[in-house]
Amino acid sequence: MQRRTTRQRERLGACVFICTNDRDSDYACCSDAGAEETLAAVNSWLRERGAFWSPVGVTTTGCLGLCSADGTAIAIQPRDEWYADVTPEDVPALLEREFGPDADSIDERAADADGSDSLGVTHPDD
Ligand code: FES
Repeated sequence: MQRRTTRQRERLGACVFICTNDRDSDYACCSDAGAEETLAAVNSWLRERGAFWSPVGVTTTGCLGLCSADGTAIAIQPRDEWYADVTPEDVPALLEREFGPDADSIDERAADADGSDSLGVTHPDD
């Protein structure tokens, strides 16, 4: 096992978690609500601004507990921001709100210079 916290904290200003959960039941799930299209919209927006994967990571995830038939659930960490009912059309405004129109506000709420995170927790070197 390797602890890679410092490496990831240096590379990533934020990570966008997009629920693509699919379930075979009567309950709504993000997969049925356009999650793949929303994921593609997030990736495109970041790529167009040169921010895809570094400094903004994107990953698919299972259920975030915000299930809806009206759109996809997204969490942005370590900002502790949560969105539900996100459609591909919502993505530009959502990402602009989080990262600025040119995705140049990535580090605004990232780790402080002393290495502490937004909660004031200092992580020792890996
Ligand atoms: S299925 Fe996406 S939040 Fe539950």
